[in-house]
Amino acid sequence: MNHPTKPRRSWSRQAKLATAGTAALLAAGLAFGPAAVGAAAPPVFPAAEAHKPTPIPDRVILIPTTAPATSQRVSWRAEATADTAQAQILEAPRALGQVQPAPGAVATVRAMASTPVNTTLGYASTYHTVEFTGLKPGTRYTYRVGDGTNWSPWTDFTTAADGFEPFSFIYYGDAQNYLDSAVPRVFRQAFADRPQAKAIVNAGDLIDSANSEEQWGQWFQAGGFIDGQINNISIPGNHEYSGGLSAFWRPQFPYPDNGPGNPELKQTVYTLDYQGVRFIGLDTNHQSNATLMAAQTAWLEGLLKDNPNKWTVVTFHHPVYSTTGTRNNPNVREQWAPLFEKYGVDLVLQGHDHSYGRGNQVAARKSTTVHNGVAYVVSVSGGKMYALNGGENWTGNGAEVRSTSENTQLYQLIDVAGDTITFEARYADGTHHDGFVIRKNREGERTVNDLRTPENTVGEQVTVDKTSVRRLESVKVSAYGYDPGERVAIWWREPGRKNGTLIGYEKADDLGRLSETVRVPVLAKRGAEYVVYLDSEHQKITSPPITVTK
Ligand SMILES: [Fe+2]
Ligand SMILES: [Fe+2]
Repeated sequence: MNHPTKPRRSWSRQAKLATAGTAALLAAGLAFGPAAVGAAAPPVFPAAEAHKPTPIPDRVILIPTTAPATSQRVSWRAEATADTAQAQILEAPRALGQVQPAPGAVATVRAMASTPVNTTLGYASTYHTVEFTGLKPGTRYTYRVGDGTNWSPWTDFTTAADGFEPFSFIYYGDAQNYLDSAVPRVFRQAFADRPQAKAIVNAGDLIDSANSEEQWGQWFQAGGFIDGQINNISIPGNHEYSGGLSAFWRPQFPYPDNGPGNPELKQTVYTLDYQGVRFIGLDTNHQSNATLMAAQTAWLEGLLKDNPNKWTVVTFHHPVYSTTGTRNNPNVREQWAPLFEKYGVDLVLQGHDHSYGRGNQVAARKSTTVHNGVAYVVSVSGGKMYALNGGENWTGNGAEVRSTSENTQLYQLIDVAGDTITFEARYADGTHHDGFVIRKNREGERTVNDLRTPENTVGEQVTVDKTSVRRLESVKVSAYGYDPGERVAIWWREPGRKNGTLIGYEKADDLGRLSETVRVPVLAKRGAEYVVYLDSEHQKITSPPITVTK
């Protein structure tokens, strides 16, 4: 810094000011920067300096292929030529540094693409991509990228298993704003919570200005080393478009080129299967273009119709049901939602509304806390947040919003297992916001159960097929929201009474449902009202009153 140093104030004066500052901070809850004690504000460090490329790689990011068990793409930025850009890879060793890998253990792979992107900061950012192939499934590797002289640090990733294997992934709504201030703590907390996550899904608007070199630099700095070891699955939002797709998109994110085939959709619409989950990325920035929508719709249906994976996750930017203002995406809703429901898509992960909303179609609701339809989620990770609307876009279109949040930054942790997907949304401070468990059996039947938490008083109810019966007649009783196999005591008793007749014990099924035919006890009094009471570890619930007529 070349600014002349001001003569320093005496220590006691400074200390007094500092003490006063602390008191004010405590009183008002405000923090004062150094400028508040009278020094001239230092100049802003220019973006052209802060983000200038060097021969040392940065913006290193794992990009999945369609064969994630045996191959892996990596892209990075560096001042390097197509001739020198390269990567090295070996099976993860116990040590490096002073220990040399065994001769022949390290493979060197040349970049398959080196693409300079012109920036407005007076330089070009050149992105390089390598693809490692012939890898072993479920195996930890160590790689580095560079030019043969200047290298990234050695970084590890593990290839996908060959077939189904439980794993976790992270999902973010729009990062977009405050990328260098409010976003990093969200990314870091998510990584702290799921360090072994295999993928990070971004539902668009990663940055605010599609071609801002500074913002892309900030976005990559927010992700830091995390992006070099977890695969990234991003689709573009409206902010990745400015008179066309961001010039950065394809060089940075060389996704599978397996979309509908329209050049506009190349590497913004793509799919890959990862350990039993089919990920499908769509581009809603063309929702007013009938041709590009129809192409995506047909492609989507093909992927859903012929899908060997147990689970399906679809991501795109503009939501089916909006949580903000009068926003509305009828083409997305009308053309795609019926397919999601018809083919049993599990998660629809969206952005754009800068608030949180999670819900489902009303017709899918089975009980207070359980439905069996698609889970639609809108979320936001960045520091720009909008107020919620009244849910009109959900309720006006046959849907209901089950959980909302405004003026909060969130990240979502998704744990995929054989029979369940557990979804949890957490705030930037790591605390719980919302969650649900999707259970699916061999027959493909599904329940989506609100996550049971101390704050979530369940409010389940027992359903009966009739509320007026004769003695010795039967009543069909059903209830939801159990753990699979949870043991339930079935009681027949008068409303408000503690004692009654124990009919027997039953177990909830593998989807947490209970369905039982209960015969009205012979001792039931004519004209009296009774209830069925279900008592288990997690739920103590009651049916509506049942009148015994004879
Ligand atoms: Fe946005
Ligand atoms: Fe957006």
